[in-house]
Amino acid sequence: MNSPAPTAPWTAQIVTLFPEAFPGTLGLSLTGRALADGIWALRTIQLRDFGLGRHRNVDDTPAGGGAGLVIRADVLGPALQAAKAAAPDLPVVYLSPRGRPLTQALARELAQGPGVTLICGRFEGVDQRVLEAHDVTEISIGDYVLTGGEIAAQVLIDATVRLIPRVLGNQDSLADESFAHGLLEHPQYTKPAEWEGRRIPDVLLSGNHAAISGWRAEQAESLTRQRRPDLWRAYAQAHVDPGRRTQLSGASDQSRNHREHDKDEMR
Ligand SMILES: C[S@@+](CC[C@H](N)C(=O)[O-])C[C@H]1O[C@@H](n2cnc3c(N)ncnc32)[C@H](O)[C@@H]1O
Repeated sequence: MNSPAPTAPWTAQIVTLFPEAFPGTLGLSLTGRALADGIWALRTIQLRDFGLGRHRNVDDTPAGGGAGLVIRADVLGPALQAAKAAAPDLPVVYLSPRGRPLTQALARELAQGPGVTLICGRFEGVDQRVLEAHDVTEISIGDYVLTGGEIAAQVLIDATVRLIPRVLGNQDSLADESFAHGLLEHPQYTKPAEWEGRRIPDVLLSGNHAAISGWRAEQAESLTRQRRPDLWRAYAQAHVDPGRRTQLSGASDQSRNHREHDKDEMR
């Protein structure tokens, strides 16, 4: 009997001046175990190996003047060619504050693909021509500026790898977490039932699963409405019937139904 062809694990290939930064925190806990088990793979490419001259220079002053240094096209270009030769099917991403924001939806999209080649910038960034020549997608992890792309790469890999089946011990924990349905997650509690005079909400100890699920749905909606009006607007638009849109608090029943429906589909 023929055994099925082995499929390549989801692969993160990283072009960086600091390969020693990897796996970093990705080597710990669930992502670390999944890496050791071969559920995903990590390969680094040292940009310095493609540097020029005796000192293996990788950067130079910005064209047009100004502060800082820019990673040269004739260094990053060959490094990227080597990355593509090793893994031609991987989309290429440059971690950059100018990029498309990293969201749960984007992490889900990436998790469904074969993996990703990530370019970690340093200094003022990289020569634009390489990004254009290699059709590179830019992704940002938030509206702030880091010193380099390595931490951003780890954030992207962590958010993505945990969505690959078998990485989390209990896949159910993905079903209700923040952003899974466009809402923030409800508050969580555990033992003891009373701590420093604060009790766990009675409903959570009631054993009434319908009431617990209703309470959680209301909390998720209320937190999202208060803290993330941007998410709430998108959620309400998608889930509240247009005739009731002025009455957003009435979305509770619909959202609960929707969440139950999504869960049924995942079962
Ligand atoms: C000092 S930053 C360069 C910032 C760039 N001059 C700018 O103003 O957009 C150096 C590198 O850190 C990484 N980086 C910084 N902030 C980031 C963010 N918010 N998301 C993703 N990568 C980031 C990028 O790879 C970038 O090339």
